[in-house]
Amino acid sequence: MSHIYLTHALPGKRIAELGQHCDMDCWSGPGLLPADRLRLALAAADGVVCLLTDRIDAALLAAAPRLRFISSVSVGLDHVDLEAATGRGIPVGHTPGVLVDATADTAFALLLAAARRIAEADAFVRGGHWRPETAWSPDFFLGRDLAGATLGLVGLGAIARAVARRAAAFGMRVVAWNRSPRTVPGVEVLPLDDVLAASDFVSVHVALAPQTRGLLDAQRLAQLRPGAVLINTARGGIVDEAALADALISGHLGGAGLDVYEREPLPAESPLLTAPNTVLAPHIGSATALTRRRMADLAAANALAALRGERMPHCANPAVYE
Ligand code: GLV
Ligand code: GLV
Repeated sequence: MSHIYLTHALPGKRIAELGQHCDMDCWSGPGLLPADRLRLALAAADGVVCLLTDRIDAALLAAAPRLRFISSVSVGLDHVDLEAATGRGIPVGHTPGVLVDATADTAFALLLAAARRIAEADAFVRGGHWRPETAWSPDFFLGRDLAGATLGLVGLGAIARAVARRAAAFGMRVVAWNRSPRTVPGVEVLPLDDVLAASDFVSVHVALAPQTRGLLDAQRLAQLRPGAVLINTARGGIVDEAALADALISGHLGGAGLDVYEREPLPAESPLLTAPNTVLAPHIGSATALTRRRMADLAAANALAALRGERMPHCANPAVYE
């Protein structure tokens, strides 16, 4: 019987049912699976169901001679060496689609929070600063309007398109850049430089890959309009974080709403922690109970297909089937 390793307990029936088709082991903590334990587990596994916190690189794959599939409970796969997996003929499954609305909601929540200074206002009230002499004034906590503003999308995949629908409902104009040409009703597709120069808000929705690492570097951040707000729910490595902190602290950018970082958890010395009007979330883009169950179901379906020698419903390296 095939031996499958789960790097974390997962919700839902489909994962439990997977155990009827293989001999299944699961890390039970405490905390996340340490890298050395992942290495040990994969040395003996035919398949793995993993999280985005499990780094599966070429060296780890070389130490996993039996491994026949990887099923990640994530849409992003920058934690897996796809090229090395493809070289070994190992299909890598992921979970697009099911987390689109939840992640678009998170992007929009960060956008609204940054536009209207919600985190800062909350801290103000809780900090006891809302006193009679500061009760209200015409220029009290002024934020930015969404209606009439331009939202620029960097990437125009499923999540970006879901953000575009939300933006349209708020009366925003939506422009976007995508690496390959794409037509989306209501979205004006432009070169990246033009998107950056035209936008009051910019939201990042590309996958992290060698071609997108540092895509929004100091030079591109400088192209943003003075006072623009940057939202990132994709991956931290797409934005040069030090340059972003500088642009916030210098006042060139008007704010940021971030769910992802170059290093997670965000190090205590990160300048983002004290940057003005910066709303920080701890990588919770897809974190709703329903979405996490759907992601687990899809990861189970990918694993089951691989166990049966069938094509995964959502395989990120379909070249392995050719
Ligand atoms: C979350 O970041 C994911 O890739 O699913
Ligand atoms: C995710 O599913 C995306 O394509 O953005």
